[in-house]
Amino acid sequence: MTRAPLSVRPDLNDLEPRVASRPEARHLMDGNESPYPPPAPLVQEVVEELEQVTLNRYPDRDAGALHRALSEYVNWSSDGLWIANGSNEAFLHLFLAFGGADRTVLCFEPTYPMHSVIPRIGTTKVRRLWRTEEFVIDLEDALAEIDRTQPEIVVVCSPNNPTGNSEPLSTIRALLGAAPGIVVVDEAYGEFAGSDESVRPLLDEHRNLVLVKTFSKAWSLGGVRIGYMLADPLVVDGIVRVGLPYHLSSLTQIVGRAAIRHARASSELVEAIVGERDRISVELQAMGVKTFRSRANFVLFQVDDAPAVWGSLLEQGVLVRNYSDTPGLYGCLRVTAGLAEDGDIFMAAMEEALDV
Ligand SMILES: Cc1ncc(COP(=O)(O)O)c(C=O)c1O
Repeated sequence: MTRAPLSVRPDLNDLEPRVASRPEARHLMDGNESPYPPPAPLVQEVVEELEQVTLNRYPDRDAGALHRALSEYVNWSSDGLWIANGSNEAFLHLFLAFGGADRTVLCFEPTYPMHSVIPRIGTTKVRRLWRTEEFVIDLEDALAEIDRTQPEIVVVCSPNNPTGNSEPLSTIRALLGAAPGIVVVDEAYGEFAGSDESVRPLLDEHRNLVLVKTFSKAWSLGGVRIGYMLADPLVVDGIVRVGLPYHLSSLTQIVGRAAIRHARASSELVEAIVGERDRISVELQAMGVKTFRSRANFVLFQVDDAPAVWGSLLEQGVLVRNYSDTPGLYGCLRVTAGLAEDGDIFMAAMEEALDV
C-alpha cells in the first residue's frame, strides 16, 4: 500500500488548471496570435546562428547581448529592463518579488484572467473592480478603492484583452498619482494601437510605472516565449532576486536578437492586421452585429445566442473565443484578426451562423 501524495496548497484548490484545450479547426482565430510567420530573413539568421551554438553549455546567464539590443531598441537603460519567457513569466517574477500574502493587487474586470491568477499563485490578495459599460476604468471608483484599500500593485491592461479598448492616458496618470505602490500597464497589444496611446513616455516622469510588453503578438513569435518589462532600476533589482539562473535559453536569446534586427519587417505586418481588424468590425456591423471598438488585433462582438453561433462557426472550421459565460461579457465572442482569407471565411461563416 502506498500513501497518497501531498495535497496541493489549499488556497490553490479552486484555481482551474491552466491547460486550455484548443478544439481543432482550420482557421484559428481564437488566440490573438499573428497568423504570419516571422520574416523569412529572421528565420534564416536564427538557423545559421543555431549551428554555431554550444547547446551542451549553459546560455549567457545575463543574456547580455539581448539586453543591449533590446535596451537600444526601446531606448530604456538596460538596468531598468527585465526579459522573461513571455510576459506571463515577467508578471510571475514581478508578483513573486513585490506581491505576497501581506500585499494586494487591484485589477479591472473584465480583463486578461492571468492578471489575477498569477498573483494568486504567489499568495498575493486580489481585489477586482468592474469597468464601465464602455469597458474603461471608472476613475472615481478606482481612486476611492485605492484610497480605501491601498493596494501595493495596480494592474491595467491597455489595450484591454478581451474588450479591445485602450485606457485614456489621463486615467493612467491619475492612478500613478494615487497608487501607494506600483502601477503595471500591460501593453501586449500596444503595437496595434499606435504610439500615442502608449504609456511609454510616462516612464520618464513616473518611477512607480512598470510597462510590460511581449514578442508574442505583433512580433509573430508566440511560440518562442519572450516578454519584457521596462521599469525603474530599483524594480528590476527586486525582480532579479526571484528569476532563476539561466532562465533565458540560448535559443531564446538568439531569436530575440534576430527579431530586433528585423523589427521593421515585423511592424509592416502590424499594419495589415490593423486593416483586417477594422474591416471585420465594419462588416460585422453591416450584418447588424454589435461590436466593441478595438485597438488590438481582435474584435469583441455580441450576438443573441453566443454559444450557438460559436458552435456553428466551429462546425464551419472557424475557431473564435467564447466569452458567453464570462461575467461582464455575456453574449460575447472574440475573433482574432489576421489573414484576409481567414477574415473572408469568418464573415461567410457568420452569415451562415446568423442565417442572415
Ligand atoms: C493582455 C495579455 N498580456 C499578456 C499575455 C501573455 O503574453 P505572453 O505570450 O508574452 O506570455 C497575453 C496573451 O494572450 C495577453 O492577452
